[in-house]
Amino acid sequence: MRKSSIIALSCLLVMPVNMLAAQELMSDAQDLFEPIPAEPPALEGNALTPEKVELGKMLYFEPRLSESHTISCNTCHQIGMGGVDMLETSRGHRWQAGGRNAPTVLNSVFNTAQFWDGRAADLAEQAGGPMVNPVEMASTTTHVVEQLKGIPGYDAYFKSAFPDDPDPINLPNAEKAIAVFETTLITPNAPFDKFLKGDETALTDMQKEGLQAFMDNGCATCHNGVNVGGNMYQPFGVVENPGAEFLPPDDKGRFQVTASVDDEYVFKVPTLRNIALTPPYFHTGKSWDLHQAVAVMGSSQLGITLSDDEVAKITAFLDSLTGDQPQIVYPTLPPSVATTPRPMP
Ligand code: HEC
Ligand code: HEC
Repeated sequence: MRKSSIIALSCLLVMPVNMLAAQELMSDAQDLFEPIPAEPPALEGNALTPEKVELGKMLYFEPRLSESHTISCNTCHQIGMGGVDMLETSRGHRWQAGGRNAPTVLNSVFNTAQFWDGRAADLAEQAGGPMVNPVEMASTTTHVVEQLKGIPGYDAYFKSAFPDDPDPINLPNAEKAIAVFETTLITPNAPFDKFLKGDETALTDMQKEGLQAFMDNGCATCHNGVNVGGNMYQPFGVVENPGAEFLPPDDKGRFQVTASVDDEYVFKVPTLRNIALTPPYFHTGKSWDLHQAVAVMGSSQLGITLSDDEVAKITAFLDSLTGDQPQIVYPTLPPSVATTPRPMP
């Protein structure tokens, strides 16, 4: 046989095997994960309108909702930085350190509950929390409303976002508008989404091997669904305690919400979407290296020691979860006037 036909023949033999393996990997992945949709998902009883999105965006960037007039949602969940602040734990009112790492707001609409311990059911309930949290924005419910009513420019925005409400400036409406804005903070078109939709070439060979390892080792028993996480609670340290640095004894996680001993050191399984953009890792923010976080997961959650090679492959797969980042036009906020409540630094 001529050399070229030998090559052609061996290609024929090799290609289908690779393609078959890729097909199988794809269909296994399609059983466990879903792509991020291109359009924001609808919230029950809180319809998306352009006016509500605009108001929600203004409030998201509004530092005057904080007691000091210096802290907005975007301070700790920076849209230009993967929806986080890249601090171990956030700095809030008067530079106080919060107790936990700020999770990303991107794709948070797909989580079945909000916060590391799931203490808020949905985005609207969540949004009220930080404004009145003494360590975060340190405002009060009445102050938030006085503040918004004290900035005359907001009147028209609330009226057009809530046209049926005779007195629309109130905290529930502010929360609703922020929640609707947050539904637009989704990141479709990650290489992994393209792969899930049938494009075999969207992942590199190393990422495919990493995906295989992610599924074979059992990572996907907890990190699955559209957000590759965000849909269940699990103990941190299922098999092995990850150590006091990553899991300090005083933060008992979901136990603080349910007071049930079964929930000690149980946390919401976090989303791994855009994980390459959101160091540091864990609720303590004590791991600055994604490779390390992956290795810790292997030992603490699965009782296995992943080799450096497996860790590198899984981390490469995690890189494929970075999608199109939201493109936000920074809002123009209405000015304070002489009668607007003053900052209380
Ligand atoms: C001072 C920093 C800070 C500010 C300001 C802040 N957050 Fe957060 N946010 C956090 C931290 C820390 C957590 C996690 C707290 C926990 O789980 O106990 C969190 C959690 C969240 C979550 C839950 C995400 C998830 O996956 O569980 C959402 C959504 C969110 N914040 C949105 C907002 C919005 C909207 C605002 C403005 C109204 C805001 N945050 C203001 C620090 C902040
Ligand atoms: C038994 C459930 C479970 C399994 C299995 C599991 N995880 Fe996790 N994962 C969690 C929980 C819970 C956390 C949150 C830990 C904490 O409290 O900080 C987490 C956190 C993470 C984080 C940090 C995310 C962040 O935003 O800080 C990464 C990365 C991660 N897991 C990757 C993996 C990988 C890779 C595997 C497989 C080797 C894996 N996980 C296996 C439950 C699990």
